[in-house]
Amino acid sequence: MTATVYTGIAELSTLDDELGRLHDAALVVEDGRVAWLGARGSAPDADARVDLGDRAVLPGWVDTHSHLVFAGDRAAEFEARMAGRAYEAGGIGVTVAATRAASELELERGAARLRAEAARQGTTFLETKTGYGLDLATEERSARIAAGIADTVTFLGAHVVPAGIDRRDYLDLVTGPMLAAVRPHVQWIDVFCERGAFDVEESREVLLAGRAAGLGLRVHAAQLGPGGGVALAVELGAASADHCNFLSDTDIDALAGGSTVATLLPACDLSTRMPLAPARALLDAGATIALATNCNPGSSYTTSMAFCVATAVLQQGLSVDEAVLAATRGAARAVGRETGPDAVGSIRVGGRADFQLLDAPSLVHLAYRPGVPLTVATWRAGAREPG
Ligand code: NIG
Repeated sequence: MTATVYTGIAELSTLDDELGRLHDAALVVEDGRVAWLGARGSAPDADARVDLGDRAVLPGWVDTHSHLVFAGDRAAEFEARMAGRAYEAGGIGVTVAATRAASELELERGAARLRAEAARQGTTFLETKTGYGLDLATEERSARIAAGIADTVTFLGAHVVPAGIDRRDYLDLVTGPMLAAVRPHVQWIDVFCERGAFDVEESREVLLAGRAAGLGLRVHAAQLGPGGGVALAVELGAASADHCNFLSDTDIDALAGGSTVATLLPACDLSTRMPLAPARALLDAGATIALATNCNPGSSYTTSMAFCVATAVLQQGLSVDEAVLAATRGAARAVGRETGPDAVGSIRVGGRADFQLLDAPSLVHLAYRPGVPLTVATWRAGAREPG
């Protein structure tokens, strides 16, 4: 076992129970885990020494909402939207057609490219979903590819009802043979509970089938308008309700009173010209929030968690600490990984050594210098990511 001591840490934000920032700190990593952290002057000896140049270190980002297995892009749709056309879930069908037509290698390469792009920008834990196959073979292939590149995978066969199949028949397929086919590759089930996708009772049916198969629950809720998705997520104890743009006071109270994390997707809100999710109101009510990229070719084609953090600070009323917490530990809670031996989203002794180095003296610069790619190195389980 080789231990490495990292010194020259101007500010170490552990995001552990003590949320404070340590100054002039050091970190020892051994066997992929954090062995020691504290003041630089008290750091123990180690086999190797790395000077990080008086810069800031914080946990790697935990991105809990992405759709990375797809082919093609929808730049033309985006351009039309920026010229005034409304976002509609119907665009999903364009990506479904391209994904079904793509080879396995093409899909694998596309997903791996985005995973590597995210890692270069500090993401050390990533969830991704199926949902651009929407037939048994392509959903199974998507789930298998997703499992090869992501830390945890969600089955989103219930994204929309694809063209050419009866609604009831499709629900039977999703909750029966399709679920069985993807089951070896996935840990979660999700449903797009929205007008134009699945209503509350259909969503309940999908989620309960997933639960019976041993999967955790997630819900796309209140993205395009108000509805019953958030209430359903809380009622069923889903780990996360994602999007949350159109929340009633009752929804906010329910999230605050339940165990479901509200996962907010600010890059998607901007890219679809939807109202930004009410992050401040959720926090003030006592809810746990997460921030995620929702990287996908239709509504949010970015892997940048730093962009989401900066937006949450500059436009959604969060402090820098609140936004960083939402993109790390809050997000870890949204995938059931906040505590325990496999915990992510914080830097703690005994925990997995997932961290990033900013070319800045403090994490405040993430919002103070928006749009500047500040992450210059990322370590995942103690190993430095390429790039
Ligand atoms: O999370 N809301 C549904 N699914 C994706 C959008 C997918 C698309 O437009 O291709 C989302 O925004």
